[in-house]
Amino acid sequence: MIKDGRWDGVYTMEDSPYLMEVLTELRDKETDSIPFRKGLVKFGRFMGYEIIKTMEIEKITVETPLEETEGVVVRDRKNVVIITVLRAAVPMMEGLVKVFEHARIGIVSAVRGKAPEFRVEMNYIKVPHISDEDTVIIADPMIATGSTLLEVIAEIKKYGSPKRIIVAGVLGSPEGISRIKEKHPDVEIFVGKVDRELNDDGYILPGLGDAGDRAFGLP
Ligand code: URA
Repeated sequence: MIKDGRWDGVYTMEDSPYLMEVLTELRDKETDSIPFRKGLVKFGRFMGYEIIKTMEIEKITVETPLEETEGVVVRDRKNVVIITVLRAAVPMMEGLVKVFEHARIGIVSAVRGKAPEFRVEMNYIKVPHISDEDTVIIADPMIATGSTLLEVIAEIKKYGSPKRIIVAGVLGSPEGISRIKEKHPDVEIFVGKVDRELNDDGYILPGLGDAGDRAFGLP
């Protein structure tokens, strides 16, 4: 995990050869939907482990069958709410749940309109109870214009005041991340990599194409 010097609280994973290999497979236009979905699951799981590195650790003692020794508990691991932004976040959520098995899960369906406005329409939102002890992880693989995430974050903040709000993605654009950090400086962002730019249709370049279409086998 590397801190991106351009913003506070934005972390990329370029120091992980494993994750960069997964990202390379996701980028490859020849990768079809089954390995693509598997790649998103791997990404979610890896992000979960990286997020855990930033959580509070409590030292405890544990009795092995032979003697007492030191151990640790990641306290906040059980206080996690995962918000799944349909569609492409579904496989990522599957990976995150492997790490945060106690997580409560919320679902958001948001449709992004066409350029140049990219107006977002939220047509379904179901969010579990959020307490001030919770870490809310919003899974959204592509932080492109940031419009959907701005709506989702604003909505989550109406449901409660969690300890942390983290966006977990595969790729970000400088434009999208800047918009989110300007409006919500408290929100942390964990992404595989920040790519070069957005094109006029709001796609990340070089990117990986439409993550939802590729994950669910649309042409
Ligand atoms: N959503 C995607 O799936 N890909 C992009 O490049 C931008 C938004």
